[in-house]
Amino acid sequence: METNHQLLTNLFPTIEDIPDSVKINQPVHQKRLLINGELLEWNGPTHIVFSPIHIKTNGGDETQFVIGSYPLATSKEAETALDAAVKAFNAGRGEWPAMPVQQRIKHLEDFTYQMIAKRSEIVKLLIWEIGKSTVDSEKEFDRTVEYIYETIKAVKKLNNNSSAFQVQQSFIGQTKKVPHGVVLCMGPFNYPLNETFTTLIPALIMGNTILFKPPKHGTLLFEPLLEAFRDAFPKGVVNTLYGRGRDIVPALMTSGKIDVLALIGSSKVADSLKKMHPKSNRLKSVLGLDAKNAAVILNDADIELAVKESITGALSFNGQRCTALKILFVQDQIVERFNQRLVEEIEKLSIGMPWLKGVNITPLAEPEKPAYLLESIDDAIANGAKVLNAHLGGGKNHLSLVKPAILYPVNENMKIYREEQFGPVIPVVSFSTLDIPIEYVTTSPYGQQVSIFSSDAEAVSLLVDTLAGQVGRINLNSQSQRSPDTFAFNGRKDSADGTLSVDEALLAFSVDSVIATKQNDANEQLVQTILQHNLSRRLSNSVAF
Ligand code: G3H
Repeated sequence: METNHQLLTNLFPTIEDIPDSVKINQPVHQKRLLINGELLEWNGPTHIVFSPIHIKTNGGDETQFVIGSYPLATSKEAETALDAAVKAFNAGRGEWPAMPVQQRIKHLEDFTYQMIAKRSEIVKLLIWEIGKSTVDSEKEFDRTVEYIYETIKAVKKLNNNSSAFQVQQSFIGQTKKVPHGVVLCMGPFNYPLNETFTTLIPALIMGNTILFKPPKHGTLLFEPLLEAFRDAFPKGVVNTLYGRGRDIVPALMTSGKIDVLALIGSSKVADSLKKMHPKSNRLKSVLGLDAKNAAVILNDADIELAVKESITGALSFNGQRCTALKILFVQDQIVERFNQRLVEEIEKLSIGMPWLKGVNITPLAEPEKPAYLLESIDDAIANGAKVLNAHLGGGKNHLSLVKPAILYPVNENMKIYREEQFGPVIPVVSFSTLDIPIEYVTTSPYGQQVSIFSSDAEAVSLLVDTLAGQVGRINLNSQSQRSPDTFAFNGRKDSADGTLSVDEALLAFSVDSVIATKQNDANEQLVQTILQHNLSRRLSNSVAF
């Protein structure tokens, strides 16, 4: 009989096992930087991209598969890109920020049209770069296109009232939204396309100019889009940054020329970048950061539903979601039954390569992650927990694969109690009274979401009222998640700064511009003349701004 370890070792494919539909025939050696509307050839050092998917050779060895490389550019290229973005913005007078929004929409539609033509290339790179299943990679692509179309709808709506004049306390005023300036966009590895675009697209459509740095894992998938970025937008409006963050980003921040930092990543990185900017009040931040979302499962909960939602909440994309459920508080009367069902259902998940039909657990994107997870499991065991599914291979690891582990009973002495694992380990805490999960959420440094499982209206009300001041979203009888993208997506404490629903992102990347005058004949005449003769771009009857 095969051991659990052998089962994991049998999962990586030989070259012949890879279906043609996902095969990468040629590595993607990306050698171009998009700066100031030109694709500049890069002949300097490059970063070799290894897939988390290992390949079995005929001799039985498993080697890391090289899928390509990308430029390791320096602060010099970053500064050139910054200059291009500053010039394109030109203090708000550049072609892009000054362009009527209807025209900006046309450019974005043109880009989206070109992007859709690259769907299969991008999906394939998502699969190979971060190990995301084919189904989820396709969903990520489609959701991003949908996000762009929703953003276009939202910007039209926002714009509809922007030409109206208000009369208040004998003042006449007109308010329109104008862009901030240069936006530095950095997305995360787990949703490299989607989350980068949930800041980049609203920032762009509002008239800002962009510097964007793809995440360390999830870089090559932007290669198929470079020409579309170059061709769809005026020069200098979208510029790429390639290289190690620590080598290139500090020069940008210390220049004081970045107006908005849009980062989906860690609070530690956000903290240090913000401190580098010499003008802390000038810098605006749109941040999606760490989270340790808890599920609170009460004695009266529907156990089957709670198990199902906890599994998708904790293990979709191997738990590598900022919104994942990262700790489960289960009330004492049902905890044994809940754990038993959790073990049974997790055993039904399928582990394997991203292209396999119905696969749930795939190779982890970050090379250092398996060792971190094993260390967290050992630490929990040393402090009194058991891996409840150890007999079924829970917590076993082979290269980038880790079989989900259920840890119980978890307590505050274990690092998994507070640290964000971002991987397939599910800590379960038993509690008797509601003050225990309430205290946990209240004292957490993070405040993204909570999930409550119960049908007891009074208990749910108590939890909702107590926790609404701690987290951005409370989910009733369902896992935590960002979608639908039209809902406000934010967080409290160290989890976020700003809100990223389709509508609110537009506000985050723009600022009100008010034109006001005392209501008298001379001023009314002045405004009328400007409007009638279309003398001003800003002070106009046009709905475009
Ligand atoms: O990693 C964070 C993503 O925004 C998660 O989105 O919860 O809808 O999968 P989702």
